[in-house]
Amino acid sequence: MAERRFDIVLFGATGFTGGLTAEYLARNVPAQARWALAGRNRAKLEAVRERLAAINPSCADLELLTADVSQPETLKSVAESTRVVITTVGPYLAYGEPLVAACAAAGTDYVDLTGEPEFVDKMYLRYHQKAKESGARLVHACGFDSIPYDLGVYFTVKQLPSDQPIHVDGFIRAGGRPSGGTLASALGAMGRLRQAQAVAKARRRAEEKPRDRSVRPVAGKPHRSSVAQAWVLPMPTIDPQIVTRSAAALDEYGPRFTYSHYAAMKRLPTAVGTVAGVAVVGTLAQVPQIRKLLGNLQKPGEGPDPQTRAKGWFTARFHGTSAGRSVITEVSSDGDPGYDETAKMLSESAMCLAFDELPSTAGQVTTAVAMGDALIERLRKAGISFTMLEKPPTYPPSRPRR
Ligand SMILES: NC(=O)c1ccc[n+]([C@@H]2O[C@H](COP(=O)([O-])OP(=O)(O)OC[C@H]3O[C@@H](n4cnc5c(N)ncnc54)[C@H](OP(=O)(O)O)[C@@H]3O)[C@@H](O)[C@H]2O)c1
Repeated sequence: MAERRFDIVLFGATGFTGGLTAEYLARNVPAQARWALAGRNRAKLEAVRERLAAINPSCADLELLTADVSQPETLKSVAESTRVVITTVGPYLAYGEPLVAACAAAGTDYVDLTGEPEFVDKMYLRYHQKAKESGARLVHACGFDSIPYDLGVYFTVKQLPSDQPIHVDGFIRAGGRPSGGTLASALGAMGRLRQAQAVAKARRRAEEKPRDRSVRPVAGKPHRSSVAQAWVLPMPTIDPQIVTRSAAALDEYGPRFTYSHYAAMKRLPTAVGTVAGVAVVGTLAQVPQIRKLLGNLQKPGEGPDPQTRAKGWFTARFHGTSAGRSVITEVSSDGDPGYDETAKMLSESAMCLAFDELPSTAGQVTTAVAMGDALIERLRKAGISFTMLEKPPTYPPSRPRR
C-alpha cells in the first residue's frame, strides 16, 4: 500500500454527484493528499479539472486516469494505483461490479453511493471472501443511503447499556429532489424485486450469524408517533439492512437488537398520499416501457440546480429503548441530503479510510463497523449534527423557506 501512487481516486467525476464530490474534495482534502480523477471521457475529465482549479489552484495538476466499466483492465489499473477508490458510477447494478472485483483483488478500499440492495447482496456473495483475504474494505451506501441511519443508530446504542436487549425506531424527514442517476437506479431496482429477493435469500444462507446474540429488522406499522411528532410509515429501503448488519458485527448493540425504519410526515393527508403515490409508481414501474418513460423525467448527468439544493434539509430522529433506559437522538443538517450532503458524506468516508486510525476490518463492511466514531467526528466537523435530545422538540409546521 505504501508505494501506491494515490491516496484517493474518484471514479465518475464527470457525473452529477461525482462532480459535487470532486468539488468537495477540492475544498477539503489535506494539502499533502495525493488524489486523482478517473472516468471514461478524457475531455470531460479535463473540463472537471478546470472547474476544480478555480476552487483550488493546486487541482490544476490533478492526474486524470482513463477507465471504462466495459474494460476491466482499466479498472484493475485504477484499483492498483490507489489506497482508496470512490465511485459514483451508477446505477451500480448496471455498472458497479467490475470495480468491486478489481478492488477486492487489489486489496484497495472502496466506497460507493449505492442504495440498491440486490447489488450489495451480490457483491457480498461474490467478493466478501476475496476482500477479506486481500484486506480491502468494501463499504457500500456511504451517502444519504445509509450514513445518517447507520451512524445515527450506532450513536444511539452507545448511549444505552450493551448488556440489555435494545430496540431502536428511526424516523426520517427530508426535503430534496432526485438526479437522473438516482431516478435510473430506483426504477431499475423497482423492476427487479423478484431477483433482489432471491439474492437476499442466498445471502442469508451464506452469511455467518452472530453467536449468542439475535439481530433483526422489524417492519413497523403506520401510526402516529409522539417521538417523531408526526405520522410515520414503514420505509423498506436498504437502510434497515445496513443498520442490522452493523448490529450483527458489534457487541455494543446488545444481546437482542431490533430496528424499525420509518418515513415521518407532519400531516395525515401527506402520509396517505405518499402511500398511494409509492403504490402507483411501484406498480407502473413493473412495466418496462413505463419505466423507460419515467426515466426520461430526469436524464443521466442532470440533477437539482443549486437554488433547489439550497432548500434541502434532513432530520433523522432515533428512539432507543432498553430495559433500563430510553434515549432520543437526532442526526440532521440544513444541506441538500441527496447531493451536497451526500458528496460530503462520501468524501469524508474516503478520507476517513485513507487517513484515520480505524479498527482493523476487511471484506464487505458497513460505515459503522469500518469507521464508527472517527466518521461521526469528521461529519460533525463538516456540519452534520449528532445530538442527544432531552425531549423531542416540536417540528416546525413547515421548514423556513430560504
Ligand atoms: N444513495 C444515495 O444517497 C445517493 C445519492 C446520490 C446519488 N446516488 C447514486 O449515485 C449514482 C450516480 O448518480 P448521478 O445522478 O450522479 O449519475 P450520473 O450523473 O448519470 O453520473 C454517472 C457517471 O457514471 C459514468 N459512467 C457511466 N457509464 C460508464 C462507463 N461505462 N464507464 C465509466 N463511467 C461510466 C458517467 O460518465 P460520463 O460522464 O462519461 O457519461 C458519469 O460520470 C446513482 O446510482 C445514484 O443512485 C445515491
